[in-house]
Amino acid sequence: METPVIRVKNLKKYFRVAQKGEGFGAAVASLFRREYREVKAVDGIDFDIHAGEMVAFLGPNGAGKTTTLKMLSGILQPTSGEASVLGFNPQERNPEFQRQISLVMGQRNQLWWNLPATDTFLLNKDIYKVPLDQYRLILDELVELLDLQDVLSSPVRKLSLGQRMKCELVASLLHRPKVVFLDEPTIGLDLAMQKKIRAFLKEYNKKYNATIILTSHYMDDVKEVCDRVILINHGRKIYDDQIKKLISEYAHEKYLQVDFENEVSKEALEGIGKVVEFGGLQAVIAVPRAEHAKKAAELLTRFEIDNIDIQEVELEDIILKSFADHV
Ligand SMILES: Nc1ncnc2c1ncn2[C@@H]1O[C@H](COP(=O)(O)OP(=O)(O)OP(=O)(O)O)[C@@H](O)[C@H]1O
Ligand SMILES: [Mg+2]
Repeated sequence: METPVIRVKNLKKYFRVAQKGEGFGAAVASLFRREYREVKAVDGIDFDIHAGEMVAFLGPNGAGKTTTLKMLSGILQPTSGEASVLGFNPQERNPEFQRQISLVMGQRNQLWWNLPATDTFLLNKDIYKVPLDQYRLILDELVELLDLQDVLSSPVRKLSLGQRMKCELVASLLHRPKVVFLDEPTIGLDLAMQKKIRAFLKEYNKKYNATIILTSHYMDDVKEVCDRVILINHGRKIYDDQIKKLISEYAHEKYLQVDFENEVSKEALEGIGKVVEFGGLQAVIAVPRAEHAKKAAELLTRFEIDNIDIQEVELEDIILKSFADHV
């Protein structure tokens, strides 16, 4: 197998934070003698990521996701361990490295507030030394992909949140990075805009074989954009594999969502599986994953059925369950 694009070995980041005691006495004491507490934000994680992979980096608030992405993009120095991205040590902040990566943070704004977004784009063009003809080409393409024609000349402060986020993406991708770190790129966006951004990321990945690591608290981002998932909790990796595998490992059941032609009794359904929801003409029945086809067939022969949908257990539930299993 080719060498991984991102290689992380026993990476750690500990923060030292001033400890504040309770009450006035402690506040006065802390003026003279500071007590520190160590926060193990990232506590020894390992992974390899190959070119073109789209990886979801998931975990509860404070798990260490942003800290890891910051170390991989060279913004934060690790306490110990190794990270290599595209063959560079991010810490060294080699300009050649910086020209090939991008960190997009949904919570941060790099655009100039009172100027049109194009002014920021031009500034980035200079920072990243993108030649003018290439800049024009890439900009046209990004503007087209993100449907931004109409907003480019308005001052950024007049744009909606979603329009701003799209402009952030353009500003971050103008130099056509090979590795893109996205920290909650769809936060606060409405469903339609989330969809557009997801479609755009998939397109960008496909077109340039870009490697994408994405953090998000929206499971639809994860399901639609990523193939692989890395779960972290308390700064440690607890799962790393294909999303499909995570689902089949944790979800031992599938749900049959059934619409009946005529009213049925709940008791009659209990022979099929666990009745999770029941409404006379509709029911949701949990059945063992391996038997879902057999159970669906059984329903069809025993009842007058209008429709059957076979549903996966929600990814969100699976992830919560896997965190609970690793405390
Ligand atoms: N500069 C800092 N100084 C001290 N502690 C920090 C600093 N940055 C992060 N932390 C702490 O490190 C831990 C990990 O934070 P991080 O921002 O990486 O979490 P996260 O997984 O991105 O969470 P979220 O989902 O809320 O964005 C938290 O306990 C946080 O308070
Ligand atoms: Mg974060």
